[in-house]
Amino acid sequence: MKKIIVTGCNGQLGRAINHVLTDQKEYDLVNTDVPELDITDIDKVMELAREVKPYAIINCAAMTNVNACETERDAAFRINAIGPRNLSIAAAETGAKMFQISTDYVFSGSENKRYREYDRVNPMSVYGTSKLQGEYMVKDFAGKYFILRTAWMYGEGNNFVKTMLRLAETRDTVTVVKDQFGTPTYSMELARAIAYLLPTDNYGVFHATCEGECSWADFATEIFRLAGKSTKVQGVTTEEYDKIAPGQAHRPAFSVLDNYMFDMTTDFKFKPWEEAIPEYIKTLV
Ligand SMILES: NC(=O)c1ccc[n+]([C@@H]2O[C@H](COP(=O)([O-])OP(=O)(O)OC[C@H]3O[C@@H](n4cnc5c(N)ncnc54)[C@H](OP(=O)(O)O)[C@@H]3O)[C@@H](O)[C@H]2O)c1
Repeated sequence: MKKIIVTGCNGQLGRAINHVLTDQKEYDLVNTDVPELDITDIDKVMELAREVKPYAIINCAAMTNVNACETERDAAFRINAIGPRNLSIAAAETGAKMFQISTDYVFSGSENKRYREYDRVNPMSVYGTSKLQGEYMVKDFAGKYFILRTAWMYGEGNNFVKTMLRLAETRDTVTVVKDQFGTPTYSMELARAIAYLLPTDNYGVFHATCEGECSWADFATEIFRLAGKSTKVQGVTTEEYDKIAPGQAHRPAFSVLDNYMFDMTTDFKFKPWEEAIPEYIKTLV
């Protein structure tokens, strides 16, 4: 059996990876989260990798609270950059394939066009900067790597969909940003994409989101429609939202990713976001 170290296994993607890969009999998952393996600790990472001799390391661990990253810069850098560095060093030494998950926040989002993998990165937040450093670390230290940039992810865990449904319990109207565009992506779709790449030597940087695009306000509207909620969405601009909830980290205005590398090098297709979200909502009701 091929052993796979999964870090951050209790997070949204970690859980999805478990759903997708436990059905595949050739893989044996070594699941870890902070108590079993803090990815910022190089000694512990090397120790586990030497013991397991993994076929692959799938790094689902990260500091994902974008606002907290602004105030806890060192923690963001330690988890989002040093962590992947440690895992990449371990992957290189043991010959493992390294999977790193990155983000649309590596782009500024100031141009009104879908980003391809080769487009110029320019993060505008601490989170985006730390994740970009993570990409560089993986490129510097891992021999065989896949970097998948995803966006607006939802799955088992805390996410925008659950926040909207919670607000719908007590409010007739919710205020949602209408001028930031991206692609909501179901963690199960990303996990399927990782499972597709896992046995291949098709290394590199991949944009990995569901297909299509929408604003947060459009997304909220669709969530309420699918969940049968009568809650109304009041769309506001980012500027207006910052006045209602000050202290937000900068978020890209237009960070729709083009899954160009998947299209160019594989026959894997992501579902359109409008097809993936009903699947997820069904798991909640
Ligand atoms: N969620 C999104 O919208 C989104 C968008 C773009 C990219 N991504 C990327 O996708 C990946 C997966 O995201 P996700 O939403 O599944 O994240 P998540 O739900 O926040 O899960 C991350 C997991 O990593 C754990 N963790 C934190 N620090 C760790 C450390 N030092 N060592 C080991 N584990 C640690 C967390 O534990 P605690 O909960 O105890 O901290 C949590 O269980 C991340 O790389 C993220 O940057 C996510």
